[in-house]
Amino acid sequence: MKRALIFGITGQDGTYLADFLLKKGYEVVGTYRRTSHKSFERLEAFDLLDKVELINADLLDQISINKSIKNTMPDEIYNLAAQSFVGVSFEQPLLTSEVTGLGALRIFEAAKDFCPTSKIYQASSSEMFGNSNEIKTENSRLLPASPYGVAKVYAHKSAQLYREAYDMFICSGILFNHESPFRGLEFVTRKITSAIGRIKSKKQDKLFLGNIHAKRDWGFAGDYVKAMWLMLQNNKPDDYIISTGESHSVEEFLEESFEYSGLGDWKKYVEISDKYKRAFDIENLIGDYSKAKKDLNWKPDVSYHELIKMMVDSDKNF
Ligand code: NAP
Ligand code: GDD
Repeated sequence: MKRALIFGITGQDGTYLADFLLKKGYEVVGTYRRTSHKSFERLEAFDLLDKVELINADLLDQISINKSIKNTMPDEIYNLAAQSFVGVSFEQPLLTSEVTGLGALRIFEAAKDFCPTSKIYQASSSEMFGNSNEIKTENSRLLPASPYGVAKVYAHKSAQLYREAYDMFICSGILFNHESPFRGLEFVTRKITSAIGRIKSKKQDKLFLGNIHAKRDWGFAGDYVKAMWLMLQNNKPDDYIISTGESHSVEEFLEESFEYSGLGDWKKYVEISDKYKRAFDIENLIGDYSKAKKDLNWKPDVSYHELIKMMVDSDKNF
């Protein structure tokens, strides 16, 4: 039986990935942070709490990372842990760099020293590309436009360095935005669908948003965790774009989700607030996943329209 160690198992992707790997027959170990209030809601919702082994580790703490790898000796390591919210990275750039950038390096170092045969997945991001108009490929220039993007570039480059210098099996998935009913509430898609549920049940009457002209390439998290696993099953480590190949604006997402929910015209409920505008924002992100399709036989299954329906339906009693 293969053993996987997931850093960030309590997050959206960590939970979908744990569920996917358990169904593949893996033994799954995941790390969580010590906090006064446990963040096991997603694992509970997927009924995974007693099916995975949970161990305490923080990406700020090298000793806990070393121990988690030494004690687990995993076949595969998935680094999904991060301060993952771009907006907050402008307010906490140092913390973001420590966790999202240096945290990945701490994992690569620990794996090199204690379990160098582990195959490693690094969660890279389309946010690394920043603002430029072309459809992004694995060879597009990295021009990060946020402290989060800069930290992800550091981790991404470190992954490439350790792959070359130490002959380690490390893959970077350059994932474009992926969403689900278990997406964090502060991300724009879930902020919209959860607000729709609350407006319908009269718990809220307005939704405040920032830059609604920004466009993103939105896919479904369940499809994307499969790509993470496929990368580690390939015979050589590499970097892959994972995306849908189409982008939509926040405004389009508003229009379609409000219409589908039955609330109708979103303009009756939405107000623009500077509070949610960023110091710098990426206007459009769209990715070309043809390398993943060719090498891994991967493609997205859930469409943008199906994703909106899934999220609105799931949040209807929010
Ligand atoms: P998420 O829901 O925010 O989950 C992040 C995970 O990291 C949580 O388990 C969180 O634990 C953990 N974490 C945060 N700080 C930590 C620390 N100091 N030490 C250890 N663990 C820590 O993010 P996601 O959407 O699942 O994304 C997974 C990964 O993919 C992230 O690295 C993200 O940056 C990257 N990514 C995401 C997308 C996307 O669209 N979702 C696209 C590209 C890349 P708590 O539960 O305790 O907070
Ligand atoms: N969160 C948020 N809240 N975003 C808003 C709002 C708002 O009220 N109003 C407009 N937006 C715009 C943001 O400015 C951004 O242009 C877009 O909606 C998407 O924002 P998020 O959902 O926060 O996602 P993101 O694109 O910044 O980052 C996500 O995707 C990255 C991959 O491209 C995160 O999951 C990152 O971790 C991930 O790497």
